[in-house]
Amino acid sequence: MENLPRHVGVIMDGNGRWAQLRGLKRIEGHRRGAERAKDIIRASLDLGIEVLTLYAFSIENWQRPEDEVSTLMELLEVYLSRELIDLINEGIRFRVIGNIERLPLQIQHIIRDAEKLTETNSRLTLVLALSYSGRDEIVRAVKKIVKAGLEPEEINDGVFDSFLDTKGLPPVDLIIRTSGEMRISNFLLWQGAYAELYFTETLWPDFTKEEFMLAIQDFQRRERRFGTVLSS
Ligand code: FPP
Repeated sequence: MENLPRHVGVIMDGNGRWAQLRGLKRIEGHRRGAERAKDIIRASLDLGIEVLTLYAFSIENWQRPEDEVSTLMELLEVYLSRELIDLINEGIRFRVIGNIERLPLQIQHIIRDAEKLTETNSRLTLVLALSYSGRDEIVRAVKKIVKAGLEPEEINDGVFDSFLDTKGLPPVDLIIRTSGEMRISNFLLWQGAYAELYFTETLWPDFTKEEFMLAIQDFQRRERRFGTVLSS
């Protein structure tokens, strides 16, 4: 249990391919993917990880065919409303990062309620990245800083951090991406400056708790220097 990552981010990729390989509709892959997400949330709780951020919908995903976007939104709504009670009972704190105003109003309300209801929970913080892109988050942070009227000399790393959607959360230590793609794709660009990366060929609907454990163990063996040298 030594050297556990405090904050794990996951790019849940490969749902569409998983479904297509089986002759199923893409949304079936997303359904199965949502089930896997539950397993990984539970594993994170068991391990005592502080923060788990799941990349569920990127800003770029809005450009997918309308029926895929709307079914994903429906899936999300059902998922959020049905699983919410479990989140509260398990002591999970829930947060969403991203350009929430673009989401359907009903989902915005569920998110706000869930964040409020769970804000004093102190076990795992579960962060969903929805309608999210790292560049968009950074641009929105800059706009907030300008609106707040800060002087240039008042701005530093820590101050900038507090204008991001992830305000108050530790930087991401480990980013896992499934399905063989080796890219960051606009995920936690600022927060992941020193993140360790873990890539696997496994498609997200096949990503088990056991493989999650392997990724954590892999992280535990890594030597993190943050740009410095280790003292001997
Ligand atoms: C990437 O697979 C996955 C997504 C765009 C959506 C992720 C959504 C879920 C796992 C369901 C909702 C989850 C929660 C936690 C509410 P892809 O469609 O890009 O796959 P492909 O690259 O094979 O096409």
